[in-house]
Amino acid sequence: MRKMPEVIKSEKLIHYEFDGSYDFGLDYKTNYGFIRSLCMKNVVEEVQDCIDSCFQYENIVQVGIGGSALGAAASLEFLKGAQTIPQNDRRYFSLDNIDPQRLKLVFSLDLKKTLFHVVSKSGSTIETLSQFFVIYEKMKKLFAEEADKHFVFTTSQSGFLYEFGKKHDIKTFFIPDEVGGRYSVFTPVGLIALTFLGYDIKQFIEGAKTAVRAYRNGWAFANEFASFVIGEYKNRKNILVLFAYKDRLKGIAEWFRQLWAESLGKDGEGQTPVVSVGTTDQHSQLQLYQDGPKDKAFVFLDVKQDTDFTVKNDFGFGYLKNKSLNEIMDIEKNSTKKALQQNQIKCGDIFIEKNDEFTLGALYISFMLATAKAGKILNIDPFNQPGVELSKSFTKQTLKTV
Ligand code: PA5
Repeated sequence: MRKMPEVIKSEKLIHYEFDGSYDFGLDYKTNYGFIRSLCMKNVVEEVQDCIDSCFQYENIVQVGIGGSALGAAASLEFLKGAQTIPQNDRRYFSLDNIDPQRLKLVFSLDLKKTLFHVVSKSGSTIETLSQFFVIYEKMKKLFAEEADKHFVFTTSQSGFLYEFGKKHDIKTFFIPDEVGGRYSVFTPVGLIALTFLGYDIKQFIEGAKTAVRAYRNGWAFANEFASFVIGEYKNRKNILVLFAYKDRLKGIAEWFRQLWAESLGKDGEGQTPVVSVGTTDQHSQLQLYQDGPKDKAFVFLDVKQDTDFTVKNDFGFGYLKNKSLNEIMDIEKNSTKKALQQNQIKCGDIFIEKNDEFTLGALYISFMLATAKAGKILNIDPFNQPGVELSKSFTKQTLKTV
C-alpha cells in the first residue's frame, strides 16, 4: 500500500525504536478536545495582531503555573538556536512559581517595556492570581491608566480573570472548555510567547496537524510509545525515565513529566516520570539506573543540532582528536543505552531530525496522543486531576483562617 505524504514526512522527522512491543489493540481515533484545538478559528491571526500591536515591548512575562506555563517555556528552550532565529532580542520570563525571588527579578526589568501574559483556565489559581495582584498594583502605581495596556489574558469564557479583563478592557484570549491545561500548548497559552519572540506559530500548528493526519493513516509512533511504556509499567516498571540528550530538550521532558504524571496518576495507577539530561546526569543518576532496583523504563530523546565544536589537537588523548562534541555526546548516549540493555533493562529511543516549529508541533501532539492512549490502556480518564484539588482546598481554607 502506498504511504500518505504526511506519514512519510512524519517518519522522516521523528525516528523511534523500542526494545520489545506490547499489543494492547490501540485504535487510531483522535476524538479529543486537544486535537480540535488545532483548528480554533482565527486564533493564529488574532495572536499575531495582538503581538503586532505590542511592538513597544522588549520583555514578555508569562504568569501561570502547570499547564499554563510549561509548554511555552519548553517550546522556547527547544527552538532557541533553531533554523528560524528570531530577528530581535526580545526576552521571555516565566513566573510559574510564587517564589518572590523571581518576581524581584522581573521587577528589575524595564517595566515600561514589559508585557505580562496572565494565564489561568480556571481564573482562580492562587499562585497565579496572587502574583497578578502584586504585579497589577505595581504597574498601576507606575503607569496609572496606561497600566492595563501591559496585560494580555488567556482564560475561560467566565470567571474572575474573564470579568476583570472585560472591566479593564484587557485583550483576552480563550481556552476551550474541553482543553485541559496540560493539553493547551496549541491555544494562546502556548502561542503568545512564541509569536512575541518571532517564531512561526502557523508552522507549529501545521506540524501538529500533519502528525495527526499521519497518525490517522497508521503512523504508529504515539501508539507504540504508549504500548512500550505502559507494557513496561505492567512489568512493574513504575518509573519512566525520559533521558533527554540535549539541553534544549530539558523543557520538553519537564512538560512531558507533567502530562504523564497528572494525566495517568489516579485510581492507584500511574507511572512516575523522571527527567534526566544526558550527558550531565550520567554523573548523577546513572549509578542508580544501572545497579539499583529494576523498577524503571527508559526512553532516550535526542535531536539533531547544527551547533558543534571539534577537538582539534591530541593533548595525549588520541581518541578525542578530531571528534566533535555532538559526536562524543552521541557515543556516550549509545554507550549508556548499551550498558543498560546489557543489564536486561529495556530502552526506547526517539530521535528528532530538526529543531524547528513544525517538528515541535508534531512531537507535542504525538506525546499527547500517547498519553490519551495510555489512559485507555489503564482505563483511566487522562483529562482530569482530582488529586490536585484537595491540596488546593486545604490551602484556601487555611488562607481564610490566618
Ligand atoms: O494541566 C492542568 O490542568 C493543570 O496543571 C493546570 O494547568 C494548573 O493547575 C493551572 O490551572 P489554571 O490554568 O486553572 O490556573
